[in-house]
Amino acid sequence: MSHSSNRTKRITIKDVAQAAGVSIATVSRILNGQSGVSPGLIAQVQLAVEELDYQPNAVARALKVQESRSLGLIIPDIENPFFPALVRGVEDYAQQKGYALILCNTDGRPEEEAKYIKFLLSKQVDGILCVANLSYDEHSAWLQQVAVPIVLLDRRIAGAPFSTVLVDNTKGAAMAVEHLIQQGRRRIAMIGGKVQSPTNIERAEGYIQTLMRHGLPYSNELIVNADFTFEGGFAACKALIDRGKNFDAVFAANDMMAIGVIECLTQHHIQVPEDVAVVGFDNIRMAGWYKPALSTISQPVYEMGQLAVKMVLEQMMDNTVEAQTVMLTPELIIRHSSLGRE
Ligand code: RIB
Repeated sequence: MSHSSNRTKRITIKDVAQAAGVSIATVSRILNGQSGVSPGLIAQVQLAVEELDYQPNAVARALKVQESRSLGLIIPDIENPFFPALVRGVEDYAQQKGYALILCNTDGRPEEEAKYIKFLLSKQVDGILCVANLSYDEHSAWLQQVAVPIVLLDRRIAGAPFSTVLVDNTKGAAMAVEHLIQQGRRRIAMIGGKVQSPTNIERAEGYIQTLMRHGLPYSNELIVNADFTFEGGFAACKALIDRGKNFDAVFAANDMMAIGVIECLTQHHIQVPEDVAVVGFDNIRMAGWYKPALSTISQPVYEMGQLAVKMVLEQMMDNTVEAQTVMLTPELIIRHSSLGRE
């Protein structure tokens, strides 16, 4: 028996094309995330890739010589001041290293996130930074073929093999609730972000763990989930009031919701902080300007953006660099909205 027959035949893109019943060019377009291919064909090719266990030729990928000197950045909400601050950190470092930035806003929609990743690949970006909620399992067939490094910012994606830079959300939430307890508050409500978002889950953990550590009441009656927006925070606070469950403090999972909470309380003639203390999360610039000035948990957002670019550039230079998760430290910023009862 010849040696060659002992070796398992290396699966090529031609094999994938034959198995999927499409041209090699179509397979290539799909694997490079180019747009303009029907979902049916994409599914056919993905199935063939999985069934044949096709591994793109690493050498061919490494021969990707042309550099576009550009990076893609995907964010979920351009109107939330947290994200422009993040973009600032990314942009400053990328520009310093000679890279242009292509900014994509998804409104937090996973299908948009996937579409934008493929769009950026079709523009031949050299790396992608992403604040995303998409399910890795749902997209792993094509995501694992992506030839450029992807670094996640601000929030994890379960099962994704990508480097991630985020703040210690659980610790930050615990700091906020600990502070409220130190200020004498005992019935502390939480206004959360989107229930399933990892960010919200981690912050809710910090909130619950701290209440329990102090033997304080924790009840679902004191938790309302919103969507990280001013309007969401306002509506959630109204729901809390309508429940008739008295509360003397609110921890909001981000500053935009915290400001919505303060506006709602004020409209209901509830004094902040005298009747109800409020603490947010992010330390966006307007937190200090708002009346009452908002106590919050500061995220090192500029550093987060810079570090993410550094990580993606490192992976561009050496694709054997192991993926890592870097968790940055939050800081409690005490202002008027959470001071003790006068
Ligand atoms: O304000 C938007 C929130 O979503 C921030 O707290 C940030 O962490 C992002 O996850």
